[in-house]
Amino acid sequence: MMQMEKLVSLCRRRGFLFQSSEIYGGMNGFWDYGPLGVELKRNVKEAWWQDMVRGHNELRQPEGAPSTYEMVGLDCTILMHPQVWKCSGHYDLFHDYMVDCRQTKRRYRVDQVRGRWVEAKGQRIFVTSMVEPDLQEEDLLRRTLKFFNLRAKDAESLKWDSPWTTLDQLSPAEQATALGPDATEAGTLTEPREFNLMFKTFVGALSGEEGAAFLRPETAQGIFVNFKNVLDSTRIQIPFGVAQVGKSFRNEITPRNFTFRSREFEQMEIEFFCHPDQSRQWYQYWRNRRLAWYTSLGLAGERLRLREHSEDELSHYSCGTADIEYAFPFLPEGEYGELEGIAHRGDFDLRSHMEGKLDPKKRPLELERDANGQPRHRGSGKDLTYRDEATGSRYTPHVIEPSAGADRATLAFLCEAYDEDQAPDESGAMQSRVVLRFHPRVAPIKAAIFPLVKRDGMPEMAHEVYASLKKHWNVFYDEKGAVGRRYRRQDEAGTPYCITIDSQSLVDQTVTVRDRDTLEQVRVKAADLVGEIGQRMGG
Ligand code: GAP
Repeated sequence: MMQMEKLVSLCRRRGFLFQSSEIYGGMNGFWDYGPLGVELKRNVKEAWWQDMVRGHNELRQPEGAPSTYEMVGLDCTILMHPQVWKCSGHYDLFHDYMVDCRQTKRRYRVDQVRGRWVEAKGQRIFVTSMVEPDLQEEDLLRRTLKFFNLRAKDAESLKWDSPWTTLDQLSPAEQATALGPDATEAGTLTEPREFNLMFKTFVGALSGEEGAAFLRPETAQGIFVNFKNVLDSTRIQIPFGVAQVGKSFRNEITPRNFTFRSREFEQMEIEFFCHPDQSRQWYQYWRNRRLAWYTSLGLAGERLRLREHSEDELSHYSCGTADIEYAFPFLPEGEYGELEGIAHRGDFDLRSHMEGKLDPKKRPLELERDANGQPRHRGSGKDLTYRDEATGSRYTPHVIEPSAGADRATLAFLCEAYDEDQAPDESGAMQSRVVLRFHPRVAPIKAAIFPLVKRDGMPEMAHEVYASLKKHWNVFYDEKGAVGRRYRRQDEAGTPYCITIDSQSLVDQTVTVRDRDTLEQVRVKAADLVGEIGQRMGG
């Protein structure tokens, strides 16, 4: 399996990803996309927008869909009225449990601290570790020996009597005696405490609670609060979806695994509004539709899977939630990380913004009330029901929500693309090469144009070819160094096609097109290149 360090180093070296504010030592949980990375991520977002919104044909019934449907987009603000987060549930419920270490002053998410029970010298203790999964065994042994004041040759005297488990699986009394991930003394972890993940800020000159606002932790709420605006400003009819791509912010306690868990990231979300009677069918449709999207862009095979949530994982109002998951190389063998969740949300969101925050634990859903019987968080009071023109009936639509992360999808495409193989150099000798096998639609550079040598009119012809292709795609011109080296640089960037202008090109106006994956080279008329590259890229 590909080692994650190799990909991380390639991403930095070739300008896919940099740590944010690196020259000042970086900032944990924040990442910048470099010149190649920004193209890759834009292509991911544009493929999503094209396939879900612009390219969707509302006149045709897609396979597996209960009917035709419409799709539109929105672009909402990051800061919204604070009441939005009270009614959505994020103000009260959007938290993780964390523990602090009194010895090291470090903070951990309780469900991410992994460890094992071990006994030595008559004492049984839960030893924990937070290092990368492939280093955890080693780290645990080293720290356990140190704790018991034993040497490496005494390792056999340690009695490990449990498999790996997370701290949240222990009773409070057991948690209180554990050896923290960076501690040298046992029993230094505090009780788990709730930690709200929303970033708080202040709007305008008001610095008190009146001016308090939150950076959105999801783009979805902007869609719900604009439901009526979309209905009133268009002729759209149910069933329809509203899509949005944008930044979200979560003050994750332990950001980790490259961009997988960041504090600032981008989401690609759809809220799909339908009649309650049809919502289960629509849920099935969107699950399959979204899985097929990843497959169509090259995430096929065993590393991608769809996992249906079990009954006890579901929110009380949901009849189904599925995650699309990918076996990222930084996860322990057999574990998958979430790329996207597809949730059946019933009428929870629209009713919460209409009536006030609903109690998600009650079934049927009802308004959450305070000690005086008043709504805990008041809704907008606006009518967010829908009137069916054909039947005259009025109802609150149900929502299916396919919610994807643009950074996680980008990371999965990077992991899937990374490969090492052998390719011949100029003299025909096989050399090892690093290649990113991106699907052409997401590849940052679609084609690179090389004059074989910097003379005899080859650069001039290559400039012409470059100018004609540049009108259509992001292409790259390179005349520096041996052509074999130029091929290698493009393989590492994931460029699917390299076009070379040689002495024959000057005679018969043809060029060679080299395929990154098959290494096959064919001669094509320069005048036909736009058609040729377009066709190879899938139309
Ligand atoms: N509106 C529903 C919602 O936000 P979520 O499962 O919390 O659901 C949806 O987030 C997607 O957003 C996830 O599947 C993931 O791809 C992405 N995401 C969530 N938290 C993230 C983080 N800290 N860093 C990067 N991506 C994240």
